[in-house]
Amino acid sequence: ADDGYDLWLRYHPLEKPLAARYAPAATEVVSAAHSATADVTRAELVKGLSGLLAKKVAVGESVHQAGAVLFGTPENSATIKNLNLPLGQLGPEGYLIRSAVVGGKKLTVIAGNSDVGVLYGAYRFLKLIQTHEAIDKLDIASAPKVKLRLLNHWDNLDATIERGYAGSSIFKWWELPEHVSPRMVDYARANASIGINGTVLINVNASSLVLTQEYLQKAAALADTFRPYGIKVYLVARFSAPIEIGGLKTADPLDPQVREWWKHKADEIYHYIPDFGGFLIKANSEGQPGPGDYGRTHAEGANMFAEALAPHGGVVMWRAFVYSHEVPDDRIKQAYNEFKPLDGKFLPNVILQVKNGPLDFQPREPFSALFGATPATNTGLEVQITKEYLGFNTHLVYLGTMWQELLGSDTFAKGPGSTVAKVIDGSMFGYKQTMMAGVSNIGSDRNWSGSIFDQANWYAFGRLAWDPEAKADVIASDWVKQTFTSNPAFLKPVTALMMGSRETAVDYMTPLGLAHQMGTSGHYGPGPWVDSAGRADWNPVYYNRADKSGIGFERGPSGSNAVAQYFPPLSTIWAKPETTPENLLLWFHHVPWNYAMKSGRPLWDELVGRYDQGVANVDAMAAEWLNLKPYVDDERFALTADYLTIQKRDARLWRDASIAYFQSVSGLPLPAGVKKPP
Ligand code: GCU
Repeated sequence: ADDGYDLWLRYHPLEKPLAARYAPAATEVVSAAHSATADVTRAELVKGLSGLLAKKVAVGESVHQAGAVLFGTPENSATIKNLNLPLGQLGPEGYLIRSAVVGGKKLTVIAGNSDVGVLYGAYRFLKLIQTHEAIDKLDIASAPKVKLRLLNHWDNLDATIERGYAGSSIFKWWELPEHVSPRMVDYARANASIGINGTVLINVNASSLVLTQEYLQKAAALADTFRPYGIKVYLVARFSAPIEIGGLKTADPLDPQVREWWKHKADEIYHYIPDFGGFLIKANSEGQPGPGDYGRTHAEGANMFAEALAPHGGVVMWRAFVYSHEVPDDRIKQAYNEFKPLDGKFLPNVILQVKNGPLDFQPREPFSALFGATPATNTGLEVQITKEYLGFNTHLVYLGTMWQELLGSDTFAKGPGSTVAKVIDGSMFGYKQTMMAGVSNIGSDRNWSGSIFDQANWYAFGRLAWDPEAKADVIASDWVKQTFTSNPAFLKPVTALMMGSRETAVDYMTPLGLAHQMGTSGHYGPGPWVDSAGRADWNPVYYNRADKSGIGFERGPSGSNAVAQYFPPLSTIWAKPETTPENLLLWFHHVPWNYAMKSGRPLWDELVGRYDQGVANVDAMAAEWLNLKPYVDDERFALTADYLTIQKRDARLWRDASIAYFQSVSGLPLPAGVKKPP
């Protein structure tokens, strides 16, 4: 079917000449290994090769013919052992793909130190064919730079999804453990194919219920299904669980009974899920309970869980997303203020989980000042794959470029070259644990992500978690080839369209460093005006600060001085409007409407120009897509065309509503030459 269910694992037959080229190099799939992981590796290779090459591919335990694809580890394959491959540098999850000649027969070897490494290699091999690469002289080695590559599902036990735009949860808790949907296998395949090795099954705003015996048995059924694919299950621990499901009077992390309770709970979890990954915890954030309720620090809270999990090898991911409207300081400074002084106070199996920016997954933010600021605390990254602030599932916005911009940002923590990628992959500070998490965009829709192009964001997340220095354009192009076609007439324009799409969204939503201008709570359309949120820090006007005199949030020394949280030279470059990059200007500064921009235009004209540019770009994207009809099946073509029509509508709404509101406070007329919308 062309409904998108197969994601990038479409193994549709190649055109005949291509298939003929590959067929001699993929005659049989060979391995003597029979672990659960080796079995799924074999099954995937057979499925992929027989689909792509439209022929029956033989399966065997030893090489019978030239063109065999041999997979395994030195432990389970004497042939691989005798080849003496340089597997030493690859770690437990890396792989090597080599063309070799054994016993006079040409073959391809997919090897690793573990079965899971080999599985990753098998997906890479299939990708080579899907993307029409040559496979006759292979010498590929790859290993993940980040240890924990996780999806965070914000799925609730009742199957609703917080910030989910692709239907309801794929985890049907009420059917578990008796029935595990076959979809869970396809979910695991998709994740493994891009190197994702863990999944947090429930929302950070969690119910304690998931930690009861009944639910642990359900989670165990999922863990059993995911295990062959190298995927571990993690759960959210609600801080107040000892009270809610444990019958205790307190959840104070220094109370011996509470600590005992969590130790027992951890033991119980590992009884059901022997390779359980650990806990993700949102504490003292947006009303969630936490150690602060008992006058304890985040470190005291996190370490209690860390002690309970440590004997079993589990980790605690402690979220840094804390802020409170009762704290008078600029919201974006609060996480740093809270956690910077705690650096070094966390146990070695704690990972601080920091959102990419200091605010909340906006179309553009600078990187969080915590990256680089916590050398003695394992610090991991959280990005949002689901597009809460980027037009849900209907707007076509490829996030690979946004994440590349973030990961390539220089924190200057140890001088030039101290990129966020180098913090996250652990190389800068020698972190013991490294982690990258993506808030999932997966739901029960047939196409998983709510739109075809949102699949690319799931894919790009996996690729960047494997290698935070990977390039967004390469990832986009691979995805297009695997998902649609390698035909340059389609590939080139679509990759270009994806590559420009995030900047386009920034232009029509929040240009020049504006942020949090979405309608409160829904976060879909524009709402730059005063609204009924009740809380100043959820109100768009708190962020745009537009008035008669100008627009923007002053965060230099004369304002909140958030710039001081960054290392020099950023702390001085961003301190003045003249040296602040224009794409972050209004994030860091309140400037007059007639402020002179580099284009020579006054700020007001520039701002209006950006909104217009955003609208024009969406129009161009939609027109481009219509040209590409001949290369796409009807179903995926039509869905995307319809969504681009919605995006055209919404881009206009964003532009017109934003400009109208800003005019209402500035009293300025539209710049010369700009026509009022009909
Ligand atoms: C955002 C989002 C919430 C979510 C929160 C979080 O504020 O709107 O739905 O719970 O982030 O990351 O904890």
